[in-house]
This record gives sequence, structure tokens and C-alpha cells, in this order.
Amino acid sequence: MNSESLKKMVGEVAAQQVQSGQKLGLGTGSTIRYFLEALQLRLQSGELDGIIGVPTSIQTEQQAIQLGIPLTTLAEQPQLDLTVDGADEVDPQFDLIKGLGGALLREKIVAATSSRFIVIVDESKMVVQLGTRCPLPIEVLPFGWEATSRSILALDGQPELRFADEKPFQTDQGNYILNTTFDGISDAPRLAAQLDAIPGVLGHGLFLNLATSVIVGTDSGPRVLSR
Ligand code: 5RP
Repeated sequence: MNSESLKKMVGEVAAQQVQSGQKLGLGTGSTIRYFLEALQLRLQSGELDGIIGVPTSIQTEQQAIQLGIPLTTLAEQPQLDLTVDGADEVDPQFDLIKGLGGALLREKIVAATSSRFIVIVDESKMVVQLGTRCPLPIEVLPFGWEATSRSILALDGQPELRFADEKPFQTDQGNYILNTTFDGISDAPRLAAQLDAIPGVLGHGLFLNLATSVIVGTDSGPRVLSR
């Protein structure tokens, strides 16, 4: 099965987990697009009603509006029932690297306000150790980003400013992202604390102890892993 079919599979399984009346966090990315489409089909058929979602990016907000999924904000709904989001790496403890799509800061805020956080991935995202498949995205303030980058370098990471269309990529908040390569991350909680302590670092893609289940798309069907 190709990766698009696997993403569609997990998007559909996750949409089945949603119940009428729930307040949802809506993640960002190509896998989430399939989740939103499956959610819309359930709404359209009348199988589901009364749901409302907080989007984690402008991209997801636009997709949800196009699909007619009702939206709200954390100002109106500060406690959510369920967030569904994709990931770039998932380790055996359900710790994650997220943010290749650039929405990590809002995604972490939304996931942290949710009673349940379901992660949907195709099996290529499953890793034994974080930091072995993709760089860690770190969101930094544009002011003084070069100095922030040097502090990250001192943690044995190799930060590279993310570009899009030959300009520094800017997040929905107007910040920069440093894609930071590590030679595998052996102590993710320690690295997260060190990054959190650097002035200029606004957020990073280590999502530790947040996911409550992971739905993995495999050639032999979806696997639902729960804590
Ligand atoms: C965006 C993210 C995405 O969830 C992550 O990059 C996975 O995206 P995709 O489903 O397109 O592979 O963290 O900030």
C-alpha cells in the first residue's frame, strides 16, 4: 500500500473515534487532511452532530471551513475532549517528534488541553529512538535567532534555518524554525528541558508524555496502540 493509502486508512479510523458533542483539537498535515474529510462524511450522513473543533494552523482552519466543520477557539473552549494529530516520529513510549509541517507551537498547546490525544501515522514514522529519522523542529523568535542557534549548537544539535521559497520559513506566528539534527536523542526529557531554558526558543517538536494512543497504518491494516 502506498503512504497516501495508509494515511487515509488511519484518518478514517480516527474519525470513527469521535463522538457527537465532542470538543476537538484538529491537528495539521497531510494525514490530518484525511481525518477531516472522514469527519465531514460522518457529519454529512447525520451519524455525528454537535462537534466543534479548534484548528492548530491556518491551513487546517481553511480546510475545516471548506469542509463545513464547525470551529471554535481555546478562548471559548479551553478544555477539549480529544485531539487528533499526525507526527513525524513516534517512539515505543509514544513520545513524538512533530513540526515538520511548522505548526508545532499551536499543536502542543492544543494537545495539552485535551483529555485524549490520538496520533495518526503511517508505519514509516515508527522509530526505536527519537531523532533518528528526521530533524527536530525548534521554533525561535526571529530577533537574535543567530544567538539562539549558537545555544542549540552547544547542546550538540546541528541547527539549520528552514527556508521556503528562498526566504526563511515563517510559522503562523511569524517565527522562524531551526531544523536541528541530532545523532539520535538519547534523553528526550533532558533535551526538552535544556531547550525550554534557552531564551529565544519558543517551542520545540518534542511532544513527551502527551499521546494517549497511536493509530498506525500498516499494509496489514490499522494497528491501534493505547497506553
Ligand atoms: C505539523 C506536524 C504534522 O503533524 C507532522 O509533520 C506530520 O505531517 P504529515 O501527516 O503531513 O506527515 O507536526 O506541524
